[in-house]
Amino acid sequence: MHCTSILSLFLSVGFAIASPTASGSPSYTCAKSAGMRAVGYFGNWDIYARNFKVTDIQATQLTHVAYSFMNINTTTGEVFLSDEWADLQISYPGDNTSENGTNVYGGIKQLYLLKKANRSLKTLMVIGGATYSPNIIPVLASDSLRANFAKTAISLMTDLGFDGIDVDYEYVTDSTQAAQMVDLLKKLREGMDAYSIRTCSPSFLLSYASPAGPDKYKQLDFKGMDQYLDFWNYMGFDYVGSWDKIAGHQANVFQDLQIPAATPFNTTSAMAYYTLVGGICPSKINLGSPLYGRAFAGTGGPGKPFNGTGTTGSFGLAGVWDYKALPAPGYNSKVISLDKVGASYSYDSAKKYMVSYDTPEIAKVKAQFVKGMGLGGSSWWEVSMDKSGVDSLIGTTIKTFGGVKGLENSLNYLSYPESKYDNLRNGM
Ligand SMILES: *[C@@H]1O[C@H](CO)[C@@H](O)[C@H](O)[C@H]1NC(C)=O
Ligand SMILES: *[C@@H]1O[C@H](CO)[C@@H](O)[C@H](O)[C@H]1NC(C)=O
Ligand SMILES: *[C@@H]1O[C@H](CO)[C@@H](O)[C@H](O)[C@H]1NC(C)=O
Ligand SMILES: *[C@@H]1O[C@H](CO)[C@@H](O)[C@H](O)[C@H]1NC(C)=O
Ligand SMILES: *[C@@H]1O[C@H](CO)[C@@H](O)[C@H](O)[C@H]1NC(C)=O
Ligand SMILES: *[C@@H]1O[C@H](CO)[C@@H](O)[C@H](O)[C@H]1NC(C)=O
Repeated sequence: MHCTSILSLFLSVGFAIASPTASGSPSYTCAKSAGMRAVGYFGNWDIYARNFKVTDIQATQLTHVAYSFMNINTTTGEVFLSDEWADLQISYPGDNTSENGTNVYGGIKQLYLLKKANRSLKTLMVIGGATYSPNIIPVLASDSLRANFAKTAISLMTDLGFDGIDVDYEYVTDSTQAAQMVDLLKKLREGMDAYSIRTCSPSFLLSYASPAGPDKYKQLDFKGMDQYLDFWNYMGFDYVGSWDKIAGHQANVFQDLQIPAATPFNTTSAMAYYTLVGGICPSKINLGSPLYGRAFAGTGGPGKPFNGTGTTGSFGLAGVWDYKALPAPGYNSKVISLDKVGASYSYDSAKKYMVSYDTPEIAKVKAQFVKGMGLGGSSWWEVSMDKSGVDSLIGTTIKTFGGVKGLENSLNYLSYPESKYDNLRNGM
């Protein structure tokens, strides 16, 4: 039967991945990468001040859209929508909200329609993020709340038509939480697999938004987590910001050997740790880049002290600018790309104002780094902030990957027989 053949394929793939290497080492075999991943995070609040809708997502350039964020109930562990209006209700062109039945509209319906139009576009439901991570803390600590987290997350995923879940917990603090996180991922994976077997569905995706700071990533049980994950979205940004004393680069690939004070962190050493100490296959890691800049006022430039963040940035944010608004208005900035550092910035020497952000030139350096290191692809926070055309950082990266044909192109999933929404269950 149809179901049996899908199931045996699923089991054989699962077996191959779990096989030990020929040398008998306990590490997992690195699966050959089937094209580069391009994972774009989208915030469900993007539809408001930014007026960037799900239908504006660069669907043809992405392999995955990571829809952010789901919230978590601290007393029950339940994963729930953070904005039902944006997610389920708001009407897009073509919606008829007086149709009979229990129907989903809003961003979730549009994500499903994007999947129908772009069959290699997968969608991930992102749980947590900086805002809701504190709500995960009590849930992590309890076996029964972890179980309910997994159960309710999977119900949401299959009600809403997602291809997987991205867990974004910032951050695991100690070995106790590290073990609890492994168990949470195990429960998610087991629940997803049980659903797949019950409904004859393919395997769902599970990813983790992972930290850049050594004090954070050294807390993780990499091997324990990795056995349940399809990939890692390394958050390669916020290396420097308003909380520091010295202005610098927020997303640099390498250390600045000339001005080490400008690069307290670097992507290279994090990737070395993930792969060599953590034992993660490079092809399972996506390098995350910011589509925003971080400002430093009253500074002599990278590696020099600063005094606050100056002008309010985009949408009232203190010292944070959408990439598409940069170089910052009201300044006479020079834009400097440092290929050897894998970082770029704008600087107004008269007003002593610096913004750390990636230029297309640096996006290219990063994409070459991803290819050279054998990483699995790139991810971005977040898609509404990009420019278009030749200035697009996503576009520049994809071009450097060899174009859309160089991207991972496994099929997304459209069949959700247990969805509580009639229109989604019926394939829209
Ligand atoms: C969490 O769940 C409890 C029990 O169902 C409920 O009373 C409470 O309002 C929920 N909290 C939030 C923030 O939704
Ligand atoms: C919307 O759906 C209702 C109920 O099925 C139907 O009566 C109405 O004609 C539809 N409106 C449009 C514009 O299709
Ligand atoms: C919609 O529901 C109404 C009332 O329940 C019913 O009269 C009508 O036939 C339904 N229309 C369709 C298209 O199913
Ligand atoms: C993907 O979706 C876009 C709309 O975002 C559409 O214009 C395009 O034709 C689709 N691409 C493919 C390959 O189906
Ligand atoms: C990255 O930074 C670390 C310190 O965090 C430093 O030891 C290392 O040399 C740097 N590596 C590169 C390639 O810049
Ligand atoms: C820092 O900036 C504030 C204005 O934002 C100014 O009043 C203060 O004198 C500055 N401090 C230094 C040390 O430049």
